[in-house]
Amino acid sequence: MNQITSNMTRANGSKHGWSLAGEYYKDPAIFQKEIDKIIFNTWIFAGHVSQIPNTGDYFLFNLLDESAIIVRTNDGSIAAYYNVCRHRGSHICKEDSGNAKRFLCPYHAWSYDLDGSLFAARGMPESFDKSDIKLHKCAIDFIDGMIFVNFNDNPTSLENAKRNLAPALQMYDFKNMKVAAHKNYPIAANWKITLENYQECYHCAPSHPEYALSHTLKVELDKFDVLQQPMLSRMETCGIKEYESYKHFDQQEDGQEQYAYSRYALFEKYKTGSQDGEQLAPLLGNIKGFDHGASDFSIGPLTYMLAYNDHVVVYVFTPTSQLTSACDIYWLVRSDAKEGVDYDIEKLTWLWHVTTLADERIIVDNQKGVNSKKYTPGPLADMEDSIESFITWYLSAIKE
Ligand code: FES
Ligand SMILES: [Fe+2]
Repeated sequence: MNQITSNMTRANGSKHGWSLAGEYYKDPAIFQKEIDKIIFNTWIFAGHVSQIPNTGDYFLFNLLDESAIIVRTNDGSIAAYYNVCRHRGSHICKEDSGNAKRFLCPYHAWSYDLDGSLFAARGMPESFDKSDIKLHKCAIDFIDGMIFVNFNDNPTSLENAKRNLAPALQMYDFKNMKVAAHKNYPIAANWKITLENYQECYHCAPSHPEYALSHTLKVELDKFDVLQQPMLSRMETCGIKEYESYKHFDQQEDGQEQYAYSRYALFEKYKTGSQDGEQLAPLLGNIKGFDHGASDFSIGPLTYMLAYNDHVVVYVFTPTSQLTSACDIYWLVRSDAKEGVDYDIEKLTWLWHVTTLADERIIVDNQKGVNSKKYTPGPLADMEDSIESFITWYLSAIKE
């Protein structure tokens, strides 16, 4: 049963349909609970396998006090280790990415093989048994070439997400993609303000003139269904099937990570998320044309994928401290697409770069107001119903 309709009030006793109280954005004790129960207890997109094609290729995935080394090992598999030396704890890798035959700790020069085992530890006594010592493994899993990391030692399962999203993911063939661009946007606001802003499109018409020209999500709900019809009639000839959409936040099964899928129309002039409406990159996977639609996927509360027919934009929202957060955006294109020939980086990244800069501005202003002693919860609009789902889920997730 839907949590929202099954409870009269939320887990903290607050009324449905109102924004969160100010303490949830400012109280350090609440932030610590969020880290333990949500941030370090969820699967987060860390990158794509195409970023580390060769043995020894690695990159770091950093989140608050944790850092994971994601590496292609000697047997071709990909592993994740905590970036913590087993001697006295120094970070081992300091470069964001690179290639290593072995990992060498910069402090006292202990070295580790790519399988995490200790290879050498200089000047240690005879009695020291290095076979006992390995880098700590970090939970890692894969969905069609996308790498997910979880800082919980007993993470939730991604199996339901994989199984139920498989038909929709298959259309795009995420395995055969590559990262054409990655940008990090630091935002001076609590992570929930950043995430709440992404959840709703009530702000899109006034804040995103570029986005609002092409994406129908900015229209009121009663007009939205009418705009879907031309897309629905074109989908089949483009090789795109309709799949049941899964609701985020209010449909989390025990022991399973949450996930969601839905498809919506772009305005008629737009084939994809471009400035002029024209194609930006080669069609993905099995897609045969442009139905003028886009698909939204989510995995866990922090990772979102917006799949156009010719490219995918992945958004990852994370806290960097209680009052700061980051939005990491990855632009994925077909793996054989050539930069400068098949796609232009400036054109590919234009929409979500300008949109994210505008989002940063409104999110920071939101945090400034929430910091005031006069901030109190305000009523949510119908177009903000996903914020209600998020808040209701969030309050039960951090409950003791
Ligand atoms: S802390 Fe790494 S070798 Fe000493
Ligand atoms: Fe926005």
